[in-house]
Amino acid sequence: MYNFIQKFHSGWAYVAIIVLVIAVVNSLLGKSSQKEFTDKDRKIALFALIGTHVQLLIGFILYFVSPLGSAAFGQMKEASLRLTSLEHPLVNIIAIVLITVGWSKHKKAALSEAKFKSIAIFYGIGLLLILSRIPWNLWF
Ligand code: HEM
Repeated sequence: MYNFIQKFHSGWAYVAIIVLVIAVVNSLLGKSSQKEFTDKDRKIALFALIGTHVQLLIGFILYFVSPLGSAAFGQMKEASLRLTSLEHPLVNIIAIVLITVGWSKHKKAALSEAKFKSIAIFYGIGLLLILSRIPWNLWF
């Protein structure tokens, strides 16, 4: 169980980060070229939303089956355990909440520019937060 979930979370991280980067770049390009927000742009943002939510769900399960998750919670002096048991989960949850806010703000916005802007800002901050707390030494 642990091995499967750990491998899934490790592999899906590529999907989640790649679709998120594509959504951020696409929204920045769309905003700067002042083009119309099309169904293709909506789908790109939606894939990034789904990709990160799937990773969130796997992360929740992993947290309770991994020796580096809840089992290590409280060992704050060990930086690598603090990262996997506290900082990585907490910061990623905040990042995915921001991405979700960006998605709902883009839906409420009437103008194409405002749609691109909310995706660029909220998805962009989410991406930076996620990248700031990846356990790189475990991943590579
Ligand atoms: C988009 C969000 C997230 C991304 C991109 C991500 C990515 C990663 C990556 C790349 C690793 C290292 C995997 C490896 O060992 O090869 C990892 C480990 C881990 N993640 Fe996440 N994660 C995300 C969200 C979460 C969330 C929300 C939680 C918990 C609620 C979580 C819990 C964990 C735990 C406990 C580990 C250590 C697992 C182990 O090696 O035993 N992750 N994550």
